[in-house]
Amino acid sequence: MKLEIIEGVYWVGAVDWNLRIYHNTYSTHHGTSYNSYLILDEKIALVDGVYEPFGEEMLERIKELIPPEKISYVIANHSEPDHSGALPRLMKIVPQAKVFCTAKGKDILSRMYSPNWDFITVKTGDEISLGRKTLRFIEAPMMHWPDNMFTYVKEDFLLLSNDAFGQHIASSQRFEDEVDQSIVWEESTKYFANTLYPFCSLIIRKIEEIQKSGIPIKMIAPSHGVIWRRDTNRVFERYLQWARGEAAERTLVIYETMWESTARMARAIAQGVQSQGMEVKVYQLSASDLSDVFKEVLEARGMVVGCSTVNNTVLPAMAPFIEGLKGLRPRGKLAYVFGSHGWGGGAVKVIESALKQAGIELMEPGLMVKYMPDEEELSRCFELGKRFAQSLRKVEIKEGIQT
Ligand code: FEO
Repeated sequence: MKLEIIEGVYWVGAVDWNLRIYHNTYSTHHGTSYNSYLILDEKIALVDGVYEPFGEEMLERIKELIPPEKISYVIANHSEPDHSGALPRLMKIVPQAKVFCTAKGKDILSRMYSPNWDFITVKTGDEISLGRKTLRFIEAPMMHWPDNMFTYVKEDFLLLSNDAFGQHIASSQRFEDEVDQSIVWEESTKYFANTLYPFCSLIIRKIEEIQKSGIPIKMIAPSHGVIWRRDTNRVFERYLQWARGEAAERTLVIYETMWESTARMARAIAQGVQSQGMEVKVYQLSASDLSDVFKEVLEARGMVVGCSTVNNTVLPAMAPFIEGLKGLRPRGKLAYVFGSHGWGGGAVKVIESALKQAGIELMEPGLMVKYMPDEEELSRCFELGKRFAQSLRKVEIKEGIQT
């Protein structure tokens, strides 16, 4: 099946229906796609490849349009193997093809595949003509590797954005307006939270740079998921909201428990938050999908985190959550920590230290309870929940304090 996304530009990628964990970091409940685009003009260009196991599928799609030997230019917007893995297979067919990428991209591709490809390194503003169409390159470092760039097809107002603005969705449909909107936004949000969250400042700068440049963008075609062809500005605006730390007035209660003491505290705190008319969501980590929880973190302004102590530290299910936060550095959040212990505490201090390292503001020092919370302590938890909700309503997002 040939799919022309815009005149002369064809999708020649692959759909990975069965992917359930992406680069060993987050769950992909809806699979993914590796979007590769073939531009037919006087010169023929392939923009991005696919993951190596899908290389033959990509070549078959190209063969439906042209003999692959006719490809003159390979544009490598990003070197990660899900987009570059099939390039060695293609380069055996077209060893003379010029490979356009950033300087960092050349370093990575040379190291991973071959230093002998005919690399042409490009910077923002560089252009090449294919004949009727012109490709303009826009560096986009750390969206989400140092080498990332976008390719803009000037005559078509088409932005080929690689990882940016993507979503992990496997679909027989190629356009965003053809699939379930709730899945599109759920997966877009999760993608941002798990892939792009650490780079908020750079994302804001890059989007503002594109908006100020005034280039019209009618279509954003990422290298994962579906293509945006309606009101592309709303995609930029949503990214800006996430990157600035704008989130719902909502509290997450995220905990792990050994003998239900911390769970009781969690429930009492959640009730306290709820008593103030604030939405609350409760997650026990051992019963939750961690990358789904990170998506919730992106969307909520507040989190109350609790854990029982074992061996002077947190329970095993809590460790990847707080380590993940240190990497993601979510901005604009208020947090509070609680927990229970037996003869020696530790979990509350470990979590507080991790949240501070993640740049998250703490409402006040955390609450520790010995063995089992009594009625008075559960009342304190309820009151803490109330106070947390009241404090959260007063928090202002301080843009730029967490970079
Ligand atoms: Fe889709 Fe950074 O690779």
